[in-house]
This record gives sequence, structure tokens and C-alpha cells, in this order.
Amino acid sequence: MTPEALAALMRPDFVFGVASAAAQIEGAADEDGRTPSTWDVFAARPGNIRDGSTPAVTTDAYHRFDEDLGLMREAQVDASRFSLSWSRLMPDGRGPVNPKAVAYYDRVIDGLLEAGIRPVVTLFHWDTPAPLEERGGWLRRDTAKRFADFASAAGQAFGDRVADWITLNEPTTVILDGYALGVHAPGRTQLFGAIRAVGNLLLAHGLAVDALRAVPVVGRIGITNVHTPVEPASASDDDRDAADVFDFVHNRLFADPVLLGRDAELPRGAKGLERLGLRLFSRLGRDRAVISRPLDFYGLNYYFPSRIAAGADPHGRTPDGETEAMKDVPFRLERFPEYPVTGFDWPIVPESLGVTIDGLVERYGDRLPRILITEGGASFPDEIGPDGTVDDAARVDYLARHVAIAAARPEVDGYFVWTFVDNWEWAAGFTQRFGMVHLDTETLARTPKSSYHWFRTVQHARSRQD
Ligand code: NOJ
Repeated sequence: MTPEALAALMRPDFVFGVASAAAQIEGAADEDGRTPSTWDVFAARPGNIRDGSTPAVTTDAYHRFDEDLGLMREAQVDASRFSLSWSRLMPDGRGPVNPKAVAYYDRVIDGLLEAGIRPVVTLFHWDTPAPLEERGGWLRRDTAKRFADFASAAGQAFGDRVADWITLNEPTTVILDGYALGVHAPGRTQLFGAIRAVGNLLLAHGLAVDALRAVPVVGRIGITNVHTPVEPASASDDDRDAADVFDFVHNRLFADPVLLGRDAELPRGAKGLERLGLRLFSRLGRDRAVISRPLDFYGLNYYFPSRIAAGADPHGRTPDGETEAMKDVPFRLERFPEYPVTGFDWPIVPESLGVTIDGLVERYGDRLPRILITEGGASFPDEIGPDGTVDDAARVDYLARHVAIAAARPEVDGYFVWTFVDNWEWAAGFTQRFGMVHLDTETLARTPKSSYHWFRTVQHARSRQD
């Protein structure tokens, strides 16, 4: 599909944006009063990050924001989603706000607005202040209250200008990778702790919604969850049960409480346990009302579908490396040999985005607010060619096919490409490039890839249609 044909599919108000997160782009980890986050601590431990890199510099956006803004403006990006570093705005996770952090984010927000780009802010994109984690992190209810204070402070500082607020980004990933499997910060492997952390993250979301509304902020408020359509690897009961457990963890754990105001529907096998009185995940209780406040939009991150078989992977493999804890998990991800894959081995199946949206509409009905696709994208091993250009035709194809599906859906308000400049991909370090702009990790030079030029062509075509 040509960029012009794609542009013709997109409504004038469809938001075509880019997304990032503080720990992945900012760098300046110990400058201007910022204190360490869980990811600084986790990355400092040998063996945790595939290439041994840390979030100390990343893309150095803290010092190079103007350069990136210039590239965004030139591409006519509609919106930029970024996260606030809790450790920068409120060092140690509590107490007064850091004026230097307010000055930095003011510059970012005002710069975006002047360039005609809508600022979209994520409050929590995985980087808990280290001092809060040392006191128990998401295992403690108190962390949810500290998060509400942080949300309130952010709302007071920036609430007159931010267009959309996202409370939490992919809490499921924090629970699964960070608290249960230990392949992400904070590196815990506590199954029952992870269960407790679910309740506290849900509460943090609800309290943050209330805090932002109390300010009040002018922007819309939502949450971002990652969803994946799940299919069993075979019709056997075991594979179907395993697929249901995976579906529960990935798709229902946070969405059911937030959107339906009830505990996530348990996997088939666990229902028997529930009848025996073991209410494993029933954590909403008195927090039910605050957790399920009506939202203005629902953030959806979609990357790939999942095919699940019963039984642990004998090597304990996850996309972020092998881990003993994964050997205890009663399911494993199977490959999709019929589809091409990204650098992360993620299957490329654009029609699954439509299946994901159908699933949300069917399950949540009237309780589902407008959908904003807050992330989608693909990593490939992009290199600068001899002529100085970066040809990432596979990413252009990925994005064009996914955006075409998103734009055709009346319930979807926009699509945010993950990501603008190649950045620090958590436990994978710099081994996975997701950007439309290439980053030289030595010199930090930015080189727009062909996907950047494609994005710009789509947006220029749209502005001619207006
Ligand atoms: C989801 C996360 O929100 C983001 O931080 C990450 O880089 C992308 N997926 C790609 O893995």
C-alpha cells in the first residue's frame, strides 16, 4: 500500500504519533537531582542486561530533546507519548517536586505544543524509584499512595497542557517479568508476592485517576494494557487450559478489574479452586470502586498473537533470556512457523490487531471507552548502508499494515509507533532496534531510516487532503 493510499484511509482526527519511555531515552541518570530507579539498580547487576548496557545514557534525550523535536516536527508527528521519570520529578519517590525536573518536562511539553504535537504522558513506565522498591515496592499498599502523590504533583505541574494521561503502562509485564520471572527490574521471583503486587498496582491506577481528576487536569485519562490474542497449540484439554491461564495473565488480570469492576475471570482450572474457597486473585475488595473509575480512553499496546502449549519450556526461555523461574510456569510460547518474525522472534500478524480489538469490544462492550493504540512496532537489525541511509522496508511494511487496520476501526482514535529513535530495550539493552530513526550508540548520532521518510510522506499526504 502506498503512503498516499494509507493517508486516504486515515480520518483527519486520527492521531498518528510516536511513543517512548523515560528510562529508555532520557539518560542523565544522576543529573539535576534524579535518584536511581529499579532499572538502574537491576542493570548494574552483571548478567541482567543482554549486552551489559545500562540506562545511564540511552539516547541522551535529556540533552538532545531539541534535535529529536526538530525531526518530529519535520515528520508532522501528531502526538508524542513519553513518560515522566518518577525518580527525577520526585526524587526518592516522595516529598517535594524537583524544580529542575519540572523545568525539563515544561520544556518538552511546551516544545511539543509549539510544534503542533500533542503531549501524551505516561506516569508509570516501569521505573519505580529505588528507595520505594527497597521498602517493598509494589508489594506494599503504601507505594500506591506514594504514586497518587506523584500523579497529583505531575497533574499540578503539567495538567493545564497535557492532552492524554496514562496512569500505568503494561502492568502485566511488570508483574510477570519483574515480580514473578525476575527477567525485568526489580528482578523478583515471588509468585505470591506478584499476586499481591497486582492489587497494589490496580489501586495505584485508581488513586492516580482520582488524583488527576482532583487537580483537575484538562486532558483525558486512561490506562495502557498490552493485549495478545491467545490460541491453544492444539485442541487438547491441556493446551486449552494452558492457553486460558496465559489469557488470564496477559489479557484479563488488569483489564477485567479496571473495565468491569470485578476480579479478573479466573482460568478454567482455577475455578475449581475458587469453589473450594481459595480466592487467589480476589484482591479488589474495598478498592473495587476506585479501581474501576470510568476512563476517557483505553490504551492498547499490540505487538503479536500468542500460541500456547501446556508444560514449561525446558530451557526456561523468555524473550528476555532464560530463567529458572520460567521452568515452573505451566505453559510455553510456541512458534508460528507460517509467519515472518521480527528481531525479537515475534510473529508478524497484522490481522491479529483486528482480532484483539474485536475481543476487547466483545468482552467489555459499553464499559470500553475509546481505544488509543498507545504502542505498536517491530525490531529489526537495522544498519547504516554504504550510502549513509538505513533501509528498513520490513518496518514500513509492518507499520503500514497495522496502521491500515487501526485506521479502519471507528472505535480507535490513533496509533503510536514504538518508537521514534532506537532506544534502550530493557533487558535486551541495545540489541533490539525499534526506531524510525537510527541511533549510533557510540556517537549518539541520529539517522532517519526509510520508515521515518515513509511516516513523513503519509503525514504530508494527509495534510494535503485536509
Ligand atoms: C512495550 C513497552 O511498553 C516498551 O517499553 C517496550 O520497549 C516495547 N514494548 C517493545 O518491547
